[in-house]
Amino acid sequence: MEAAIKGLGLALAVLAAGTAAAGDSREAVEKAISKQVVRGGIVFKTYCTLCHGPRGDGTARASKLYGQANLRIQARDPEYYETIIRKGGAAVGRSEFMPPWEGELSEEQISDVVAYLTVLGDQIRRGEVLYKTNCILCHGVNADGKGRAARLYDPPPPNLRASDKNAEYKRMIIKLGGEAMGRSPVMPVWGLELTDQEIDDLVAYLESIKDPGAGS
Ligand code: HEC
Ligand code: HEC
Repeated sequence: MEAAIKGLGLALAVLAAGTAAAGDSREAVEKAISKQVVRGGIVFKTYCTLCHGPRGDGTARASKLYGQANLRIQARDPEYYETIIRKGGAAVGRSEFMPPWEGELSEEQISDVVAYLTVLGDQIRRGEVLYKTNCILCHGVNADGKGRAARLYDPPPPNLRASDKNAEYKRMIIKLGGEAMGRSPVMPVWGLELTDQEIDDLVAYLESIKDPGAGS
């Protein structure tokens, strides 16, 4: 939750300041962070991961209480998701420990989180959501190093599509930050805010958009 909110807070601050940049436009950033699944990812992280786990697979702090198998969110119709989220488990003959969210979440938050659940089983899409909530200000909406804050830093945030680093290196620099890797301290430490699973998801996303031909 903290990381998502910190990322968004940073995004909104830069948007408000209206920093002129040669890279991403203000509109591009706005579009990326307001994408429905990205907003839904933030709702999920805020209200749902305690019981369902960051991947929705039931690996969660609450699994001792409710059982991991029960907490696994399976691929189902969006209508089913919407009903159980609005009305709670008891209304659909499931466990009453699934609370009703109608009233607590806005209409927009409910449709956003339903949209997010439809991509939850896909590691790369999960990683994309994490990337877009935490990394675009520096590394750019397209991970090409053209983030709105990029010009503030020397060395600049690299083009992650063109990175020559392997998955293990990426995992380490994301978790430990730039300084621990003998690089710039501007690259933040994410290991305190993101779980190892989430960092794996981010790395899977970065590996999926690799473009060795792209110049950095
Ligand atoms: C206090 C714990 C708790 C929280 C918080 C919680 N849930 Fe649940 N949820 C459950 C339990 C327990 C079940 C399983 C019900 C059963 O097996 O009968 C469940 C079931 C579900 C299911 C059905 C899964 C399936 O495949 O059938 C969905 C979808 C779901 N929850 C979504 C959410 C969303 C979205 C949020 C956040 C807005 C959320 N839950 C928050 C406990 C929780
Ligand atoms: C405040 C700006 C900033 C943010 C936010 C940021 N980074 Fe970075 N990142 C950098 C800088 C600057 C470097 C380069 C450090 C250097 O070259 O010494 C870097 C380097 C990296 C590298 C190494 C790439 C390579 O090819 O060497 C990876 C991977 C990376 N960042 C991933 C991420 C991810 C994933 C996120 C979001 C969770 C993120 N960064 C958020 C500034 C940032």
